[in-house]
Amino acid sequence: MTVKPALAATTEWEALEAHYGRVKNETLRALFAADPGRAERLSLEAAGLFLDYSKNRVTDETLRLLAALARARGVEARRDAMFAGEKINVSENRAVLHVALRAPRDWKIVVDGEDVIPEVHAVLDKMAAFSDKLRSGAWKGHTGKPIKNVVNIGIGGSHLGPEMAYRALHGFSDKTLTFRFVANVDGAAFTEATQDLDPHETLFIVASKTFTTLETMTNAAAARRWTLDALGDEKAVAKHFVALSTNAEAVEKFGIDTANMFGFWDWVGGRYSMDSAIGLSTMIAIGPDNFRAMLAGFHAMDVHFKSAPVERNMPMLMGLLAVWYNDFFGAQTIGVMPYSANLARFPAYLQQMQMESNGKHVDMDGRPVDVQTGPVYWGEPGTDAQHSFYQLIHQGTKLIPVDMIGFCAPLSPLADQHDLLMANLFAQAEALAFGKTAAEVAAEGVDPAHVPFRVFEGDRPTNMILADRLTPHALGALVALYEHSAFTQGAIWNIDSFDQWGVELGKVLAKRIIPELTAAGEPALAHDGSTNALIRRYRRLRGG
Ligand code: F6P
Repeated sequence: MTVKPALAATTEWEALEAHYGRVKNETLRALFAADPGRAERLSLEAAGLFLDYSKNRVTDETLRLLAALARARGVEARRDAMFAGEKINVSENRAVLHVALRAPRDWKIVVDGEDVIPEVHAVLDKMAAFSDKLRSGAWKGHTGKPIKNVVNIGIGGSHLGPEMAYRALHGFSDKTLTFRFVANVDGAAFTEATQDLDPHETLFIVASKTFTTLETMTNAAAARRWTLDALGDEKAVAKHFVALSTNAEAVEKFGIDTANMFGFWDWVGGRYSMDSAIGLSTMIAIGPDNFRAMLAGFHAMDVHFKSAPVERNMPMLMGLLAVWYNDFFGAQTIGVMPYSANLARFPAYLQQMQMESNGKHVDMDGRPVDVQTGPVYWGEPGTDAQHSFYQLIHQGTKLIPVDMIGFCAPLSPLADQHDLLMANLFAQAEALAFGKTAAEVAAEGVDPAHVPFRVFEGDRPTNMILADRLTPHALGALVALYEHSAFTQGAIWNIDSFDQWGVELGKVLAKRIIPELTAAGEPALAHDGSTNALIRRYRRLRGG
């Protein structure tokens, strides 16, 4: 394997650095004034999504240099290796094939000598049959009552995607069913999610790729007790529990019949799994046809990502722009503001996808990276966010590039309100880009002493992503857009975007501390002084 040169020393990086020096003070006002065709040229459509990236602090030269960087770093070659089933997750020696989860039946992707597409569709078909049975009332609980409540127990990738998708696609979901999502090991999460549910009518979906995660296994055990306390018969588990996992042995050990298990594979990362069996709650909510429409949206973006040249490739452009701000402007974060109440959990979902993928300090060869990697992703839906933290984006001292997401047609019957929502979306992007000068403020007759407070510097960059409507197809395309943007960033930095070793240490230490919190007497503690004192304080004050 050839070792890639350190990034900052490459010709393409140096060219970008020199270019940054030349353009960093260019204003968006000047760029737009000098170029009437800018908005049209710096926008594109793919998989039903429209991206206007003209309000970014870039020139045609910036984009040319970024594309050259992508080529020099082998982004296209790594993408092709992913689609070909190669083991590009080097630290875990695994293929990375979430794209196979939404590939049509006639595709072929071979991993370790085996075409994985037939297995993918076999699981989807099994999920569809189960969903239909549950939605029609044919799947009965242990005491013969139809299931009315579905509780997904999972955490991280086994929670955020299902919860996000359920809220996003609520308009498409079966309203006769109640859905709850339990993740936190805090007992309050389980108690509150189940307190008004009837165990006779409740199905638990235990979602865990590994089936070993402390939080999920603890909540699953609580669910089992909750069910058996009411139904009083071990046999009830078969009718009230299903598992989504890659670990059949652990599922069986927990007491769930593997006939009620929906499998997936080690080449699906947790944060890339909402379209695998992990999406069972989504499929039950919106039905198999809508779920397949969502997969088609994902796939349409996959095909675009796989085939479009770098310069017209939406996920690659988004990834390259993220690198541009992260590494040249020194921006630490990227805001994601969906102008859709239904996408309230989308930023949280993206946080795991982006930050678990690209929060890495060594490259694929195990050497320390020489530039900044993964930005912090964060956000809230607009317009709510406008009334909380937008102040800092408009007038603070930090540069925060923002992705803004909107839908042209509403899901709600209150169409007039949708116009207000969209007016705010467009206004914010305009204000962030072009601001308001001191002269403009003064011309409004403002007391000269107050003028500085009212100046908006502008030049706050945005990507504007629009879709026709928040449909299952649009959601799939949107998620795939961000997946491949993360991929592009990781390929530029030459890091492994598909492992997550950084979550392990805390898990190991927690296992050591658990018995120390409850042991009788005064256990000998061998942590640092701070941790020892915290444990002692907790032991003194913990309730019954
Ligand atoms: O601790 C992080 C993590 O491993 C994530 O990568 C994953 O999505 C989550 O935990 C849940 O893991 P599992 O699906 O195996 O329970």
